[in-house]
Amino acid sequence: MIESKIKSTVRDVLDFPKQGIVFKDITPILKDPVLCQEITAALAGQLKGLDIDVVAGIESRGFLFGPVLAQLLNVPFVPIRKAGKLPYKTVQQSYDLEYGTATIEVHEDALLKGQRVLIHDDLLATGGTVVAVSELVKQLGAEVAGYSFIIALEFLNGKARLTPYSDKIFSLAAY
Ligand code: PRP
Ligand code: ADE
Repeated sequence: MIESKIKSTVRDVLDFPKQGIVFKDITPILKDPVLCQEITAALAGQLKGLDIDVVAGIESRGFLFGPVLAQLLNVPFVPIRKAGKLPYKTVQQSYDLEYGTATIEVHEDALLKGQRVLIHDDLLATGGTVVAVSELVKQLGAEVAGYSFIIALEFLNGKARLTPYSDKIFSLAAY
């Protein structure tokens, strides 16, 4: 089972990056190429029937599987980056997450009007990050097709912030 394989590989790091946070460290997954291939295949397998034009991945851990997932789906990959990193003209959005605040941005020509965007990240916690990315997608006139995560921290209730899409939120391992 992919869920138990992910759970037995992910490492819990206590009090990182702040006191009281149990950080899910996915770097041990990257040392296992077979598991990486299984994860990419399982992510793609959950998306059957979803009409996806583009995968948008979120810096930095959404860049680990997002581009490979996009290649498997045969669609473009668009990077969503932390503020100040993208070189061309951007649109921006600020948000709160489990351990702080941040601003993300996307190139203003990264998405075409009406394109259906799969938002991918390694992990869903409070949902602040993907709500902000959803706003960026809409600012560019594109549509959210769904959300794909490796891990969902369900006790933080992030899915509740994505209610219009509740049947289009996919993850492989839930805590
Ligand atoms: C982590 C994670 C998600 C986000 C989830 O990223 O990779 O992007 O937090 O939290 P949320 O659901 O509460 O918004 P982080 O901002 O720590 O950046 P990183 O990927 O660069 O480590
Ligand atoms: N992003 C937000 N909360 C997190 C957590 N507990 N572990 C890893 N990444 C996170």
